[in-house]
Amino acid sequence: MKRSVIVAIALACGVGAVLADTDPIAERRALMKHDGEAAKKLFDMSKGKAPFDLATVKESLKTLDEGATKTAALFPDNSKTGGGTAALPAIWQNKADFDARFVKFKKDVEAAQAGVVDEATFKKFAPTVFENCGGCHELYKAKSG
Ligand code: HEC
Repeated sequence: MKRSVIVAIALACGVGAVLADTDPIAERRALMKHDGEAAKKLFDMSKGKAPFDLATVKESLKTLDEGATKTAALFPDNSKTGGGTAALPAIWQNKADFDARFVKFKKDVEAAQAGVVDEATFKKFAPTVFENCGGCHELYKAKSG
């Protein structure tokens, strides 16, 4: 609770420095790592590699919603390098577009949270959610390996 209040304040003021006593690079990487784990479960289900399970879908979407809500505030100006970050300089050159992508990501995740009630609706919403990952990484994340 306290931490989400801090993030909300940082977002409202646009002041990354509020988070200076924490490590935004480690935090955003941890959130993205959780996104990756949640997305893998969804992806495997959407490909028929894992059996459809509505509870797992809901739980995974909740993780993605949390990531979409918190991660955007974790790119202050003083976090461009270090900490093994794969964030590209393009983020800070196109901050408005980058931030807008998190807003869209959250919107798509919330639409899925509201709309997925069974396997058929899951298959309809899943691709829309996944597009956000690749679309942003393509422009703003260094390729690994
Ligand atoms: C608006 C942009 C954006 C969206 C949307 C986004 N990502 Fe990322 N992601 C990034 C950036 C930037 C990094 C690099 C962060 C860093 O290293 O500081 C990253 C890093 C990652 C990583 C590596 C984390 C690590 O161990 O360092 C994973 C895994 C990941 N994202 C998964 C996902 C998945 C899955 C989705 C969609 C469900 C997603 N991301 C959506 C921007 C985004």
